Amino acid sequence: MLRLPDGWRPAHYAKTLIVVKMMSRHVAIMGATGAVGTEFLRILEQRDFQMDSLKLLASSRSKGKALKFRGEELIVEELCDESFEGVDLVLASAGGKFSKQYAQTIVDAGAVMVDNTSAFRMDPDTPLVVPEVNPQEIANHNGIIANPNCSTIIMNVPVWPLHKVNPIKRIVVSTYQAASGAGAAAMAELEAGAKAFLNGEDFTPVALPHPAAFNVFNHNSAVGDNGYNEEEMKMVLETRKIFAAPDIMVAATCVRVPVMRAHSESINLQFTNPITEDQVREILASAPGIKIVDDRENSYFPMPLDASDKDDILVGRIRSDISQPDGCGVELFVSGDQIRKGAALNAVQIAELL
Ligand code: A2P
Repeated sequence: MLRLPDGWRPAHYAKTLIVVKMMSRHVAIMGATGAVGTEFLRILEQRDFQMDSLKLLASSRSKGKALKFRGEELIVEELCDESFEGVDLVLASAGGKFSKQYAQTIVDAGAVMVDNTSAFRMDPDTPLVVPEVNPQEIANHNGIIANPNCSTIIMNVPVWPLHKVNPIKRIVVSTYQAASGAGAAAMAELEAGAKAFLNGEDFTPVALPHPAAFNVFNHNSAVGDNGYNEEEMKMVLETRKIFAAPDIMVAATCVRVPVMRAHSESINLQFTNPITEDQVREILASAPGIKIVDDRENSYFPMPLDASDKDDILVGRIRSDISQPDGCGVELFVSGDQIRKGAALNAVQIAELL
């Protein structure tokens, strides 16, 4: 028979069991071989994420493939219904179809899914979290926490601290989005397309709808009846949910550019009250997840090559909007690593807060 320490009541014992269960962490990455999946491995390693085991899941095509983690080779398993037995945390980035298909199995297994896809983002029962903005929402999860769209995260990190001080009425944003947002195949296609272009060879894109190299085109998501593509509407609707600001007006133009892995955005803000450039700089200088890169003299501002492989969102071109003479307008230019803060890093930060 179990003998409790002196003075302990069964409630103490139950709490201890819960703590022990929380401390033993078995993690699975769904989509481990993809652009975001492989970044999960790097980030878990770099941040020394505490866990007891790590399972790598992908399609039958990758079954048996070895991926390096903490000096060891982990073998990729084929995703199936039994994949989640004994798992506590699932980092999902295999695509919305698979997140939807396996969500119930994951929750039934007692695990929490931090989902990188758009499958549950607008579900009212699923928290949609940027840790720098609304970490408190994590506590309201029912087994699933949604990681926002990459362009939305990269915009929200610098805009939120300003909005907290002086509520923003309207955001007009134009994106310059990297190939990485369309996955590992699109990144390979950008490289192959660039080589073919320079060699004067024909090239037929498959992962993206148009040649990515030496080109700029409308984001590769469906265009809706209102003329906005899905990526643009994600930036509108997700920002409202994350900021808990249903009235904030957002208009986005989302475009792919021939960049490998960091998104840039031109952001125009209209505040409720006048705000100066210096006030914006001061607020952003102490905000988390941001690095100010704003050197007018040397024309050195955020660039995707500088933002690549970095955790911080680079923010610059900070200036008062001359088209808003009431002093309520500000313009920014930002660059952030789409695979890190736009996806894998944000998800791991959520998992750390769990
Ligand atoms: P695989 O490499 O075996 O195809 P990306 O976003 O970079 O395109 O990556 C997508 C991820 O989703 C990859 O890890 C990919 O695995 C995985 N995936 C694609 N189809 C399936 C599937 N049918 N079952 C499980 N994982 C899948």
